[in-house]
Amino acid sequence: MTIKRAQRPLLNRRLDGFGTTIFAEMSALAAATGSINLGQGFPDTDGPEEVREAAVRALRDGRGNQYPPGPGVPELRQAIAAHQAAFHGLTVDPDREVLVTAGATEAIAAALLALVEPGDEVVALEPYYDSYAAGIAMAGGTRVPVTLRPDGDRFVLDLDELRAAVTGRTRLILLNTPHNPTGTVLSRAELAAIAELAVERDLLVVTDEVYEHLVFDGEHLPLAAFPGMRERTVTISSAGKTFSFTGWKVGWVTGTPELVDAVRTAKQFLTYVSAGPFQYAVAEALRLPAAYFTGLADDLRAKRDLLSAGLAEAGFRVFRPAGTYFVTTDITPLGGTDGFAFCRELPGRAGVVAVPNAVFYDDRAAGAPYVRWAFCKKLDVLAEAVSRLKNL
Ligand SMILES: Cc1ncc(COP(=O)(O)O)c(C=O)c1O
Repeated sequence: MTIKRAQRPLLNRRLDGFGTTIFAEMSALAAATGSINLGQGFPDTDGPEEVREAAVRALRDGRGNQYPPGPGVPELRQAIAAHQAAFHGLTVDPDREVLVTAGATEAIAAALLALVEPGDEVVALEPYYDSYAAGIAMAGGTRVPVTLRPDGDRFVLDLDELRAAVTGRTRLILLNTPHNPTGTVLSRAELAAIAELAVERDLLVVTDEVYEHLVFDGEHLPLAAFPGMRERTVTISSAGKTFSFTGWKVGWVTGTPELVDAVRTAKQFLTYVSAGPFQYAVAEALRLPAAYFTGLADDLRAKRDLLSAGLAEAGFRVFRPAGTYFVTTDITPLGGTDGFAFCRELPGRAGVVAVPNAVFYDDRAAGAPYVRWAFCKKLDVLAEAVSRLKNL
């Protein structure tokens, strides 16, 4: 059927160019070729058994099977507040300063829809998590990327470039630390400079800290704890990465009552609420002993080391991630220049799937030689991937 009235493209032009993600293509390729899929970032082992059991109990006891309260169940909001205090020394009021969302993805979308108007500029670190560009576009904003550049074995933020990116039209900075896909964890000095800039230019900041517990070198510092930032920062996190239940889609926002109210206004018309029984389970998860959180980082550190060493041995230039469960490599030493072509050929050549970092860039040329690998997989799976890559 042809829709004759469609003088314009069917898809809202704000979403022009946001076709199927590379992850769908690469995961299909992995399945078709029997390759080890290090493309998409999900663990191949579920999180703690007691947390899974907590979800089962909630389901059986009839907790959360009907619409939970809009801001999230009180047990979870209290657990989020207790977590922010215990790990970050941040005081948040569970009743007015916490909002539970359908994963960090909804939190990001709702924050952008709430805070950004057409014509506003949003400064975001590039490469960026793919939902940022779509979220900014849906809000009618204009994204202004600031590119992280390779320096030694890490990608770094050029603070002068960040300052230069801020104009009179800048509404907010969309930050991500620990950073996907580079693995960079912003330092105290970098965060302090960002905070100073935000205060000086009176900007809001939306900070995506979903990898807050996946830090191997240095420490994660929440931006909201820096001077002048509490009143202008929307902090976002999620249970997906911290507890290895990415399918549950339980995320949250913390911030002042004014900021949380604004985000909730948009969020209530996206999903209203979600994941009722899982909210109770995540409330229990957040109260796991500190050893759980250090154990998670220790486990992933060993996996990082195994995969990074294997990739270096296979000839890649490896950017050693200080956090997240991704490692970015440069294919140039292997004679490659185009990460897309490299990733499309890799399953046939080595039986492994990775993703080209260019999909995370506006400036595709800047991202062209980089390829990202996920190491949230079993050690034997990573060892097999490393052994296959030796054949490159
Ligand atoms: C930086 C970043 N933010 C947000 C998300 C999405 O989190 P969630 O699954 O809780 O929506 C991801 C998932 O990969 C991510 O890497």
